[in-house]
Amino acid sequence: MFRPVRGMKDLYGTDIRKYNYIINKAVQIGEKYGYSIINTPILEYTDVFVRAIGDETDIVSKEMYTFLDKGGESITLRPEGTAGIMRAIVTESMTQSLPVKLMYYGEMFRYDRPQKGRYRQFHQLGCEHVGDKSPYTDAITIALAVEILNSIGIFDFKVLINTLGDTKTREDYTKGLVKYLSRHEGDLSEDSKRRLVKNPLRILDSKDKKDREICLMSPVITDYLSKESLTYFEKVCSLLSKFGVNYEVNNFLVRGLDYYTHTTFEFKPVSGEYREALGGGGRYDNLLSAFKGADVSGIGFAIGIERLMLLLEDNKFLPVSKKVAVIPVSENENDTSFDLLKTLYSCEIEAEFLHMGTITKKLKVANRLQCKLALIVGETEFKNGTVTVKFMNQEDSSLKTKLITRDDVVNFIKCNL
Ligand code: HAM
Repeated sequence: MFRPVRGMKDLYGTDIRKYNYIINKAVQIGEKYGYSIINTPILEYTDVFVRAIGDETDIVSKEMYTFLDKGGESITLRPEGTAGIMRAIVTESMTQSLPVKLMYYGEMFRYDRPQKGRYRQFHQLGCEHVGDKSPYTDAITIALAVEILNSIGIFDFKVLINTLGDTKTREDYTKGLVKYLSRHEGDLSEDSKRRLVKNPLRILDSKDKKDREICLMSPVITDYLSKESLTYFEKVCSLLSKFGVNYEVNNFLVRGLDYYTHTTFEFKPVSGEYREALGGGGRYDNLLSAFKGADVSGIGFAIGIERLMLLLEDNKFLPVSKKVAVIPVSENENDTSFDLLKTLYSCEIEAEFLHMGTITKKLKVANRLQCKLALIVGETEFKNGTVTVKFMNQEDSSLKTKLITRDDVVNFIKCNL
C-alpha cells in the first residue's frame, strides 16, 4: 500500500479551508502593517541554511533534508523561511532600498520526530522587517504577530519575551555558562558535551532530560546584559505595554537558531491540551552580513500553521455551499442541461453537472456535494421548456419540488439561495 511519507500529510477538506482562512487573515493584517509577499524557492543551496541557522543547531545538524542534485551541488529543502529571505534580499539587490518588510507562507521541512502538531513537512507564515533597528520596530513586530493570532480567533496564549543582548553580552554570558556547565560535564549528553566546546548556548535548547535539569540552575543572560542592551530591552517591554500587548519575561528563551541577538519571543498556549509554541521569532543583527549584504539588523517571526489549525474548531470550517446541481434524467436531456449549466456559470452561480448513473445516484451525489437545489430536466421538462427544481434536504414535503420555466431559472436561484 502506498502511504504519505512519515510526518507528511495531505491537506484537503476542513484542513485546507482552515489553512486558507489563516493565510487570508494574516495577509490582510500584514498588508496593514506595510508588508508585501515574497515567495522564495523551497530549495536553496545548503550553505544558505548552515550559514544563517548555525551548524551546531538541531535544525542544521539533525533535521535538514539535504541531498546532492544531479550536478553534484548540495541542496536543502528549506527548514525555515528567514535564511532564504536574507539570501533573496542580497541576490535581488533589495539592499539598495532598505528597510524592507516581507511576508511569506509555505511549506518547510524538518526531519523531526513526528507527533501532534509536529510534522516533517509543515507550513509557516512569517514576516521579516530588515534594515531597521529600534525598540519601536521590535514592539510593532510582536504586536503584528499577536494581531494575526487574534484575528484567527486565537487568544489563549502568552507572549514570552527575552533578550540575548549584543555581541559583548553573549560573549560574557557564554563564558559564564561554560564555567557552570563544565562543573556538570560528566552528566551532560554527548551532544551537549560537544556543544560545550563548539556552541554552548545551544545546550540550553537540548531536549535531553538530564541536560534540561542541569540548565534549570544555569546562569541567566540577563545577569550579563550590557547597559545598552538592558536599556533597549526595557524600552521594548514598555512599548509593548503601551501597545496593549501582555507579555511575560522568560530569561531561558534563547530559541533554537543561532542568528538571534537582542529581543527573542515566542507564543505559547496557556490552557488546553496543546502547549507547544505556536510561533516565535526575534531580532538578528548579523544575519544579512553573513550573506555579504549590508551590515544591518532585522527582526521577524514565523507561526506554525498546523499548530493554529489544531486550535480551530472543525465545525466552524464546514463547507458553506451555495451550489446547484444540474441533472438530466437521461442522456436525451444532456445537451439541454449542458446549455443550462453554461447559463448558470455566466450568471456566476456555482453549479455541478451530474450526468452519470441513475437519477437516484445523481441525487445522492448532489447531496454529498451539499448542493442546495437540484435542477432536474426530464422528458416533459425538455418538451415544455421547463425545469423541476428540487430543494435538497427539505423536510417539508410540500416544499420539496417546484416546476418553473427555463427562462426563470436564474432569477429563481438568486431568490432562493
Ligand atoms: P522556529 O521557532 O524554528 O522559528 O519555528 C517557528 C514555528 O514553526 C514554531 O513555533 C512552530 O509553531 C512551527 N514549527 C516548527 N517546527 C515545526 C514542525 N516540525 N511541525 C510543525 N510546526 C513546526 C523559525 O523558523 C524562525 N525562522 C522564525 C523567525 C523568523 N525568526 C526570525 N524571523
